[in-house]
Amino acid sequence: MKIAIGSDHTAVDLKKEIIEFLNTKNNIEVIDLGPSSKERTDYPLYAHDVCTLIQQKQVDYGILICGTGVGMSIAANKHLGIRAVVCSDTFSAKASKQHNDSNVLCFGARVVGSELAKDIVDSFLNAEYEGGRHQKRVDMLDDYLIIK
Ligand code: RB5
Repeated sequence: MKIAIGSDHTAVDLKKEIIEFLNTKNNIEVIDLGPSSKERTDYPLYAHDVCTLIQQKQVDYGILICGTGVGMSIAANKHLGIRAVVCSDTFSAKASKQHNDSNVLCFGARVVGSELAKDIVDSFLNAEYEGGRHQKRVDMLDDYLIIK
């Protein structure tokens, strides 16, 4: 499984911890799209880079971390085919995958501690999309919810 990860300046340390955590798993390859320094930057840049790799099918999932996770999720959901969720609990992370086929997980470095963040990541990655009755609704997201 390939995962692209990005953050803004508020979440560089947590991103590093999450990368180290993912690197302990032998079936996961992580691509770090930055930033590497804590110099102030803009979360939409990193959301765009991560989502582009998913759209190009170069990675399976994305993880985006900013102060709250909110800006990252708003930016990510501007991309066709991206279903980003901001989660501060493990249940939502799991259910978002099962019901919404979420492909980008966002959380906030100012909201969750690193151990909870790791549990959220595990819940997201270990859950399977259930398809079935959910597929029609997931299709609707791309088919006619792009309103200009
Ligand atoms: C940066 O101050 C902060 O606005 C950003 O990290 C994020 O929380 C935005 O949603």
